[in-house]
Amino acid sequence: MAVDYTIRGGVAVITLDNPPVNGLGHSTRLGIVEGIERANGDDGVRAIVIIGAGKAFSGGADITEFNTPKASQEPTLMTVIKALEASAKPVVAAIHAVAMGGGLELALGAHYRVAVPGAQIALPEVKLGLLPGAGGTQRLPRVVGLETALNMIVSGTPVLSEKLAQTALFDELVDGDLLQGALSFAHRAADRGGPHPQVRDREIEHPDAAGVIERARESIAVSARHFPAPRKCIDAIEKGVKDGFERGLAFERECFLALVQTPESRALRHAFFGERAASKIADVPSNTPVRKIERIGVIGAGTMGGGIAMNFLNAGLPVTLLETKQDALDRGITTIRRNYEAQVKKGRLTQENVEERMARIAPTLSYADLAQADLVIEAVFEELGVKENVFRQLDEIAKPGAILASNTSTLNLDTIASFTKRPGDVIGMHFFSPANVMKLLEVVRGEKTAKDVLATVMQLAKKIRKTAVVSGVCDGFIGNRMIEQYIRQALFMLEEGALPAQIDRAVEDFGFAMGPFRMSDLAGNDIGWAIRKRRYREQPELHYSRIADRLCEMGRFGQKTGAGWYDYEPGKRDALPSKEVDDMIVAYSKERGIERRAIGDEEIVERLVLALVNEGAKILEEGIAAKASDIDMVYLTGYSFPLWRGGPMLYADTIGLDNVERAMRKYAQQANGDAWRPAARVTVLAQSNGRFND
Ligand code: 3HC
Ligand code: NAI
Repeated sequence: MAVDYTIRGGVAVITLDNPPVNGLGHSTRLGIVEGIERANGDDGVRAIVIIGAGKAFSGGADITEFNTPKASQEPTLMTVIKALEASAKPVVAAIHAVAMGGGLELALGAHYRVAVPGAQIALPEVKLGLLPGAGGTQRLPRVVGLETALNMIVSGTPVLSEKLAQTALFDELVDGDLLQGALSFAHRAADRGGPHPQVRDREIEHPDAAGVIERARESIAVSARHFPAPRKCIDAIEKGVKDGFERGLAFERECFLALVQTPESRALRHAFFGERAASKIADVPSNTPVRKIERIGVIGAGTMGGGIAMNFLNAGLPVTLLETKQDALDRGITTIRRNYEAQVKKGRLTQENVEERMARIAPTLSYADLAQADLVIEAVFEELGVKENVFRQLDEIAKPGAILASNTSTLNLDTIASFTKRPGDVIGMHFFSPANVMKLLEVVRGEKTAKDVLATVMQLAKKIRKTAVVSGVCDGFIGNRMIEQYIRQALFMLEEGALPAQIDRAVEDFGFAMGPFRMSDLAGNDIGWAIRKRRYREQPELHYSRIADRLCEMGRFGQKTGAGWYDYEPGKRDALPSKEVDDMIVAYSKERGIERRAIGDEEIVERLVLALVNEGAKILEEGIAAKASDIDMVYLTGYSFPLWRGGPMLYADTIGLDNVERAMRKYAQQANGDAWRPAARVTVLAQSNGRFND
């Protein structure tokens, strides 16, 4: 049963019991209404308490029911709330831990609300591309005031119950046992007698409501450019202010039903569940025992090693940082301190926080100091010989059971594991640069990686606030393997007729934070050059444009050399189109006998994004990624794929796999068409009207 009904000393207690977070799915809603009816029909009952079992009062509507018939099946949440309001006996909502979304709306339908301190109170629907759909935009302003309600609804951010203690949201804050406090309150309410108050009858009072609403609109103009929900939240609140409760409620409902169908809301819900699904691994049950991780070792204090160390220092774990030479070690430590000091300047850390963190680092030149580490992460030069040397030494000194991780981005993890006598303890932890900032962590599961090692690293990732996605072993893992195909298409389009600025602009308009050429200038064009040189050797049959090699031969490695695909003025990062580069591109096409043509923005975007999709499909076929949502999480958190499109695989689902396949076959007929053999998975889904994300 999703709802439990008991009577405690003349008070009916309706306990929401629908783990994990008492989502208000159909059976829960039905249980509440039945409980209210039963209590009202029972002469032995004088009041009603609604309380949540487990770790929440309620996390809100059951998101998994959205876009299914159950969502609209009676009793809907609106009907449940009406039943609460209509109850002749007083209804008290007793809130602990979490009252969010529909959960808070349910409580706002009760006559009274009591809460323990520390409960998270929120209307977070906007984060799912929605607005509160069961009266939240109308009732919350009536109890916490217009400005607080606008802030809460438009941001979706939780506020602690004690911060709202002085508002009409709560009738009482309970210290101690919540149920006892609620029962005692319920008796007092029954003693006072009815009619009991309803939030809907309160007024929204504000001396400058129109001004506040206008300012709220201005404040989201940029951030909500691609998301309709924040504007609708404001519109619905405004409607209630201007036209009263009932009209506001009807308008809110209309907006909710429209928003739930939008691609933006689907994308945000996909990301919500995708993030949680990424931590679930089919053959590694959630109760797999994990190893204790209390001391961290990091080898290499360069760009990545320093950032990796910061993650653990921030989480309160001590880090031993090893380098081969004192000056490199000093440089690494200085950089970490500088990064922290920059956060102090921005007001994100105090000087005391910095000193605490710095005190947790133990710099060393000796492997013996890593002997007690529970996890050692290697971030040395990307050369197999160097990695071999490191892992052989680690194998000698690391304690039994220590996890040995590599941050390699291109080398074969199984080969690295074979340098040790304990390949089961070896795993890839592929951080993204800057490692202390980027959310994504690709966790690379080697052929022999032990299950408990994988479970431990996935759990640790949560502690350091990363979105961890498991990848099998292959060149580039999930993210970089796909991006290579995207860049390959971008280079083909240069020789066919486009210029870097046009390609970047087209895909930035699509929503990427940075186009491929600006990105490459930032990362360093020499990195891609090194990868291509290896490809030419290892896969000579693979067709590549050599146009980027030409750029590197000109010494244009990007921002670090002051020139790349673009020109850069000294000390500035603005990408200025370069006549020299554009001339080189046109000359290159001519030399190759290619007749340049105008390429439209639509083609640019389609070729770049579908190149990701096709490689993503192959990655799924090979089992490198377990599910399409994992690929989407990699792209949303590591490659700035536009959130409102939900990732490349959801995007493909949205436009339809038949359209995807048709486009690929069209491009296969054009120049450089050999890159466009649709993955088998694409063809199968196109034929079966299927989707990557079921
Ligand atoms: N519906 C269905 N499942 C939900 C859910 C919901 N509203 N909220 C959380 N869950 C599930 C999660 O998917 C997860 O499932 P899993 O264990 O199978 O992966 C499980 O509950 C636990 O979630 P978390 O891992 O996020 O647990 P935390 O303890 O870290 O956080 C939480 C709990 C704060 C409630 C967080 O889950 C959260 O923010 N949930 C979303 C809340 C929300 O957006 N509510 C609004 C829903 S829309 C609505 O109410 C519409 C209404 O206005 C009509
Ligand atoms: P880096 O050159 O900035 O740093 C490497 C550091 O390792 C240097 O400080 C060097 O002195 C040290 N080092 C070299 N050999 C060593 C050894 N035997 N023992 C101890 N220290 C040693 O390189 P970066 O960029 O930090 O890359 C490190 C690793 O991270 C590479 O495997 C790279 O592929 C990977 N990576 C890099 C990313 C990036 O964006 N830079 C992103 C993701 C992974």
